Amino acid sequence: MSSLATVVTNAEVVICCGSGGVGKTTTAAVLALEAARRGRRSVVVTIDPARRLADALGLEGLTNEPRAIEADLDGDMYALMLDTKSTFDGLVRRYSSDPDQAERILTNRFYDNISSALSGTQEYMASEKLYELAREGDWDLVVVDTPPTRHALDFLDAPQRLATFLDHRLYRILMTPTRGIVKAVNVAAQTVVRSLSKVVGGEVVADAIAFFQAFEGMEGGFKERAAAVDELLRSDETAFVLVASPKADTVAEAGYFAEQLDQQGIDVRALVVNRMQPTFGAETAGGEVTTAATARARATTLEGTAIGEHYRALADALQVAEGDEVHLAGLAGQVDPAPVVRVPVQPFEVNDLEGLAAIGALLMVEDD
Ligand SMILES: Nc1ncnc2c1ncn2[C@@H]1O[C@H](COP(=O)(O)OP(=O)(O)OP(=O)(O)O)[C@@H](O)[C@H]1O
Ligand SMILES: [Mg+2]
Repeated sequence: MSSLATVVTNAEVVICCGSGGVGKTTTAAVLALEAARRGRRSVVVTIDPARRLADALGLEGLTNEPRAIEADLDGDMYALMLDTKSTFDGLVRRYSSDPDQAERILTNRFYDNISSALSGTQEYMASEKLYELAREGDWDLVVVDTPPTRHALDFLDAPQRLATFLDHRLYRILMTPTRGIVKAVNVAAQTVVRSLSKVVGGEVVADAIAFFQAFEGMEGGFKERAAAVDELLRSDETAFVLVASPKADTVAEAGYFAEQLDQQGIDVRALVVNRMQPTFGAETAGGEVTTAATARARATTLEGTAIGEHYRALADALQVAEGDEVHLAGLAGQVDPAPVVRVPVQPFEVNDLEGLAAIGALLMVEDD
C-alpha cells in the first residue's frame, strides 16, 4: 500500500499544512474522501474553501458542524467549514462556571475583538475543533486543513499562546485590584490603567478589565485544554502531510515548514507536491524517455514542420518539469524517509467531487 493510502486507512488525525495557495484545502478534502471510499467515517475541517468547492461539499454559508456529503461511498464523508468565532464561543461556554459568566464574556466588546483579531486565533480554533472532533466525536478519521501561513508553529503553538496570554503580567496586575491583596500593587495597577487609558481610550480598558474579571477562574481549563491539544498533535495517531508546489519560492517555504516541524520533533508523514508540470509524451512506447535537450534537438531538426512545433512544445514542458525536479531534490532529502507524492496540475479547476476523486487517484499511487 502507498504511504498516503496507509495514512487514510489507519491514521486518526491528518493535518495538511503548507504555505498559501499550494493545495492544502484540496488535499485535505481528497484525503477525507479517500478514507470514506475505503469504508471509514471521515470528516474534513476546511478553512475558507474556494466558493465552488464549498458548494460541492454542501457547505453553503458558515457551518461549524459537520455535514454529510451526498456521494456513493462505502463509508461516510462529512465536511465542515471552520467558524472561528463560534468555536471560541463554545470554549468559553465549556469553561465558564455558570451561564452568567459565559454571557458576561460573550457580550464583552474586548472579547469580541480578541476572539477574531488575536493573532493565531484561527489556528487555535482549528486545533480546538480538531480536538473536539477527534476526542468527542464518533469519527474514524479527522482531516484538518490549516490557514495559510509561513510558520508551521502558528498552528502548533496556538493553543499554548492563549494560555500564555492569560498568564501575562498585565493580566495579573489588572486582576489584582479585584482580589485586593496588596495595596502597592493596586497603586501600580491604577497607574497602568491610567496610562493605558490615555493610549487606547478609557472605554477599551474598562472592557478589557471587565473581560479579565469575567474570565477569572477559567485559565486553568484553557491551559489544560491547550496541553491536551498539544499532546494529540504530537501523538502517533496524528499524521502531518506537508503540501508544496514545485516552484522555487514555495519549495523554500515548504523547506522552512519541514525544518520547524523537525525542531518540534514532528515527522512529516508524506510530502505532496501539487501542480507539477505534466510530462505526457515524454516516454515513448518503447519506454525511452525524452529529455528537454533531446526534444529541443529534434525540434531544431524538424524546424518549420508541424511535428517540429510539437517537439518544441514538448521541449518547453520538459524543461519546466526538469526545473521542478531540481527545486524539489533538496526538500525531498529534508523530509526523508517521507515519500514524495507528485500531483500534476490538472486541466480543470478542482472544485467538485469528480475533481477531488481524480486527485485522489493520483495521491494513492505507489510511492517511488
Ligand atoms: N493539481 C491541481 N490542478 C489544478 N488545480 C488545482 C490543483 N490543486 C489545487 N488546484 C486549485 O488551486 C486552487 C488553490 O487550491 P487550495 O484552495 O486547495 O489551496 P490552499 O493551499 O488551501 O490555499 P490557501 O492557502 O489560500 O488556503 C483551487 O482553486 C484548487 O481548485
Ligand atoms: Mg485553503
